Amino acid sequence: MDVIIRPDTASAVKLTARLIADAINAKPDFKLGLATGGTMEAVYAELAAMNRAGQVDFSLVRTFNLDEYIGLPADDPNSYRYYMNHHLFDHVNIDPRNTHLPDGMATDEEAEAEAYEAAMADAGGIDLQLLGIGNDGHIGFNEPLSSFSSRTSARYLTPETYRQNCVYFNPPESMPRRAFTMGVGTILDARRIVMLITGSRKAAIAARAIEGPLTSMVTGSAVQLHPDAVVILDAEAAAGLTCREYCDDAFNNDPKWAAYR
Ligand code: PGA
Repeated sequence: MDVIIRPDTASAVKLTARLIADAINAKPDFKLGLATGGTMEAVYAELAAMNRAGQVDFSLVRTFNLDEYIGLPADDPNSYRYYMNHHLFDHVNIDPRNTHLPDGMATDEEAEAEAYEAAMADAGGIDLQLLGIGNDGHIGFNEPLSSFSSRTSARYLTPETYRQNCVYFNPPESMPRRAFTMGVGTILDARRIVMLITGSRKAAIAARAIEGPLTSMVTGSAVQLHPDAVVILDAEAAAGLTCREYCDDAFNNDPKWAAYR
């Protein structure tokens, strides 16, 4: 696992966007796994700006999002479909037919989850999965106790996630308590993982995910199992890490990061 600490949020975001853009440019029919949440908004703004500047081409890219609330239609402003259209898809040259999220209105939940897994497999698997981390350590909506071998399915959200996300809903109690999510096992199948963690609010959970024991109580810790994972943090989110000196030394001197310093 590579852990890269940038001095501020803007440079952490820029590095994340550059890693994604470079990967797409190296393989135009890229399969990109996407995440939602406040942290990712700036990443998508950066990718949209790079697309406008001709620095990254989404015309052949296919995307698969991690998760979607159950019970919200695509045109609900709190659905993740709406978020993705609003923050990324409407601003880049992607074919909307190549963008995928679970259907929050699906009546047969098991069939929807299976179809989502099948769509990713048919596409040849995810080349790069972008991840954030929740206050409770979740990746996607893999809440504490989610098996590391779990697959896409409907899940019940924790009170912690409810408290974190209900602020976006009006009234807050209208937030769905269930969601479809790729499983931890699904996420670990991606050929590369890029995780972005920013802000002091995430410092404690970042340290548990990156340096703590593997535990389903912090599903973000599963990233330690992945053979090609890079975690990018700003200085505030990295404040609880003991590996900071090594991480900085490696980023500043390992030739593989020369283009990104
Ligand atoms: P945030 O959410 O970016 O809004 O903090 C991240 C997450 O819950 O995965």
